[in-house]
Amino acid sequence: MAQTDTKKPVVNYVRRPFFYDQWMEEQGIPIYRDYFIEDGRTLELGDWDERGHKAAFLQLAGQEGVSEARISEIPAGGKIAPYKFALEEIVYVLQGRGVATVWADNGPKHSFEWNDHAMFRVPGNHWVEYANMGGDVPVRLLHINNLPVAMSTLQSPDHFFDTSIPTKKSLITGPDGEFFSDAQAVDNDPSGRGQVANYWVGNFFPDMRAWDRLVPFKGRGAGGTTVFIQYPGSELTAHMSVFPAKTYKKGHRHGPAYIIVIPAGEGFSVMWPEGQEKVFIPWHEGSIFVPPNRWFHQHFNVGEQPGRYLAFHPLPQFTGFMGEKIDRSADQYEYHQEAPEIRERFEAELAKRNLTSLMPAECYTDANYKFENEK
Ligand SMILES: [Fe+2]
Repeated sequence: MAQTDTKKPVVNYVRRPFFYDQWMEEQGIPIYRDYFIEDGRTLELGDWDERGHKAAFLQLAGQEGVSEARISEIPAGGKIAPYKFALEEIVYVLQGRGVATVWADNGPKHSFEWNDHAMFRVPGNHWVEYANMGGDVPVRLLHINNLPVAMSTLQSPDHFFDTSIPTKKSLITGPDGEFFSDAQAVDNDPSGRGQVANYWVGNFFPDMRAWDRLVPFKGRGAGGTTVFIQYPGSELTAHMSVFPAKTYKKGHRHGPAYIIVIPAGEGFSVMWPEGQEKVFIPWHEGSIFVPPNRWFHQHFNVGEQPGRYLAFHPLPQFTGFMGEKIDRSADQYEYHQEAPEIRERFEAELAKRNLTSLMPAECYTDANYKFENEK
C-alpha cells in the first residue's frame, strides 16, 4: 500500500495588485489616496508627459479596482490633443469654459461648448479633443470611467489606447439621433423601487449647479429632491441630490465607487463601517469623496443655501442592489434609530456658524414621520 503524504502544500493567497494600479503608477502623475479631496479645482497636478497636459489620479478609499477618477487641466488658451480611449467616460467640469469635439474614425466632428458644472458623456472608442475657451481661467475636468474593471479582464494596457481599433459608428446616437442633444425625462417603472418618479436620459447636462428638474427622493429624508440620470445605451448612471439648508439626510450604505462631487453648498459627511469610528469629511463646491464599500455615510448641510451632491455610480454589478426584492432596512438608519452623537455633531457644526437646525423634532420620535414631499 502506498504511503500517504500528510504534509499539505502551502498556498500563498496574497492578492496581486490590480493591473490598473500598476498602469496608473507608470503614468508618472500624482495619485491621491485618501478619503476625500478638499477641492478638485486647486489640487496639485503633475505633468502627464504622454498626454501633454497636467493631471492627477484620485484613488480614494472605496474606489479601488472599480472606477477611475482623474482630474485634467487645460491651461488658458490651451488644448488637450485628440486622443482615443476604448471606454466611455463621464466628464464633469469642475471649473472653466471650453469646447469638446468628439468624432468616430473619419466621421463628422461633433463639437459642443460647456461651462462650469456641466456634465457630459464621451462615447468609447471615439476621438475627443478639449479646448479652453475661458480667457485666463484654467479648465479643470473630472473624468470617470471603468478602466480598472476592464484592465482586470484584459491585461493589456495598450489595447485601451490603440487608435487602430475601428470606431463603432452606431455609438453616436442619442434618443433623438443627436448625441449631445438635451436630456429627456422618462417615467420610472411604477413597479420598481419607486423612490423617484422619473429618470433623465441624455449625454449632455449643461449645468448641474442650476439643474432644477428635481423630484422628491422618497425615504432618504430631509425633504430632499433628486435627479436620477441615465446615459443612452450605457450601463452607467448617476444622480444628484439637493437638500435644504440646515438639514441632514439619513445614514445609509451600499456598494463601492460612488464618486461624489459637490456642485454647490457647504456641509459635511460622515462615513463609518458598522460599529467603528467615523470619518469626518467637510465639503463645499469642488470637494470630491467616495464612501467605501458598505460603509454607512450621511450628508449634512450646514450652510444657508441648498446643498447639492452629484454621485457617479459604479457599474450595476457593484451597486449592492442587484435583485428585485432586497430587504434594505439594515442599510439605512432612520432618524429615530441613529446614535445621538449624529444629531449633536450636526447641531454643533451649525452653532459654529450661528445657525440652528431645521430638522423637525418629530422625526426623532415618530418612526413613521414623513417630510412634506414624501407624503
Ligand atoms: Fe450613498
